[in-house]
Amino acid sequence: MKNSPIVALDFASAEEVYQFLSPFEQTLFVKVGMELYLQEGPSIVYKLKGMGHDVFLDLKLHDIPNTVGQAMKGLARLGADLVNVHAAGGKAMMIAAREGLEAGTTAGNKRPAIIGVTQLTSTSEKQMQEEQLIQTSIDVSVVHYAKLVKSAGLDGVVCSVLEANKILDACGNEFLRVTPGIRLSEGEAHDQIRVATPSNARILGSSHIVVGRAITRADNAVQAYENILKVWEEQA
Ligand code: C5P
Repeated sequence: MKNSPIVALDFASAEEVYQFLSPFEQTLFVKVGMELYLQEGPSIVYKLKGMGHDVFLDLKLHDIPNTVGQAMKGLARLGADLVNVHAAGGKAMMIAAREGLEAGTTAGNKRPAIIGVTQLTSTSEKQMQEEQLIQTSIDVSVVHYAKLVKSAGLDGVVCSVLEANKILDACGNEFLRVTPGIRLSEGEAHDQIRVATPSNARILGSSHIVVGRAITRADNAVQAYENILKVWEEQA
């Protein structure tokens, strides 16, 4: 799995994806989320893999253990490099997800890496307390989820940059800290609440960053990607 910034392909069709990717000369680590996957289906993953890209299939599964396990068995066959579930689905669900991936991976191949979503980066502490009735700080909730994810044998978490360091301390460096909510300056949060710049992300303990609109909506996407890649690699 590459360590380059993961580019979120939040587009509505494969056609828009190919148009976006065409000026790039190198292969990327891309993220296919539910918007694209629900329109294009498995073929988009096969095609991106065929083009040489690493694929994070960000479907954030959250259902009863048997359903998630069976779904993961199917997803393992697509060839995605990284998949995810909501940690809120519980430990049994996460174990079923990992076992489903193992069952769906053909002999001799490595199963896709799997990570748990802790709290969405669009969730504020106030919202978590009022809507989820979790009466603690967001940091405590996220670290608690990270430990649960690790105890289920998963490979890491999706979290905010602001929590990455605490997760690194609690779960170790091998445990992935994949962080969305990346902005070139703090002023452009869009709907994200817990945001950081790429260089802060590295300093604050992210192992991988996910960047969407800062690249996909830039006037020159290749240039925006190159700038972020440079800063990300410089801080390594
Ligand atoms: O455009 P932006 O950089 O905000 O895109 C972030 C991407 O990361 C989106 O595809 C979003 O669905 C995803 N994501 C997130 N927060 C999470 C998990 C995934 O923003 N906790």
